[in-house]
Amino acid sequence: YVVDKGNHRHFMEKEIYEQPEVISHALSQYVDFGSHRVRPNASPIDFNAVSSLAISACGTAYLAGLIGKYWFERYARLPVEIDVASEFRYREMPLFSSQAALFISQSGETADTLASLRYCKDHGLKIGAVVNVKESTIARESDAVFPIMAGPEIGVASTKAFTCQLAVLASLAIVAGKARGTVSAEDEQAMVGHLVEMPRIMARVLNIIQPQMESLSREISKFSDVLYLGRGTSFPLAMEGALKLKEISYIHAEGYAAGELKHGPIALIDENMPVIVIAPFDRFFDKTVSNMQEVAARGGRIIFITDEAGAAASTLPTMATITLPVVDEIIAPMIFSLPIQLLAYHTAVFMGTDVDQPRNLAKSVTVE
Ligand code: AGP
Repeated sequence: YVVDKGNHRHFMEKEIYEQPEVISHALSQYVDFGSHRVRPNASPIDFNAVSSLAISACGTAYLAGLIGKYWFERYARLPVEIDVASEFRYREMPLFSSQAALFISQSGETADTLASLRYCKDHGLKIGAVVNVKESTIARESDAVFPIMAGPEIGVASTKAFTCQLAVLASLAIVAGKARGTVSAEDEQAMVGHLVEMPRIMARVLNIIQPQMESLSREISKFSDVLYLGRGTSFPLAMEGALKLKEISYIHAEGYAAGELKHGPIALIDENMPVIVIAPFDRFFDKTVSNMQEVAARGGRIIFITDEAGAAASTLPTMATITLPVVDEIIAPMIFSLPIQLLAYHTAVFMGTDVDQPRNLAKSVTVE
């Protein structure tokens, strides 16, 4: 990799547009593009021999892990404990040597994540690391290294590392499901087939949505608070959208599970706080739309990030509807990451902040 901005204004923009290419690199470590099978040596950890998985990470890497939890539990029936590393390391949870632990870190140097790793190691757990920097401390101290192959990520706001972490976690969930007998050969080929399609779909989506995200960001920049909502794997994505926006545009944002709306945040709804609803046409769609109705009934402005089927199924008035192609649910989190990344990026550019080096933030947090 040449570490320069190429034709892009910022590293973050370059890294967003690199995703179709680097996702291919990530996937090719774990799946075979020809046979649509997972690689037989994809994981040095035998997921059938472990009783459960403990995942620990910080920030965006934690949110990737949270999506991974949905996948490991659903596809591999493998229970997952997950926490942010700063809590994980101190909460003195019971750990057993029959468990495996996964640490997700772009840099591989994050202090809290490393401390959680050492804590698990002391308890005799098998340690896996999903890292971008293969020579990092976290990689060195792990039994199994799962590289994400994203190439150097310079922008402080993580973009390509997030989607590559997701691609690796999705692949590992299939590997685990296969090992545990919960993913049939047929399902394996179908799921890997969808993953293999993903880079091409990402490239197309980036092209289609760019102008709309840029103009929408001008609207968003006028507000001081934004709420993101989602269900299922779109819930961690809602938190990731909020994290991205606040990091680089300094607009206050929160991500919530859509079902939690009426347990508190609905009190905030008015025309001054746009609500970004992330809702592919999946098995949660109707539920999320009913939450959206509650927002609309209180005069909230809605930005609806959905797919062609979802756009056709909802008649609610929105401030904007971003319509993505219909994709299989295993790749939806990666595809739906693209509009939330572009929205944060263009909002920050429009507001004139230092996009690649936002105030008060460091790329790698090596102190507690
Ligand atoms: C993401 O945009 C952040 N800058 C931050 O949350 C980051 O993901 C976190 O600090 C973890 O870093 P790591 O992946 O290098 O461990």
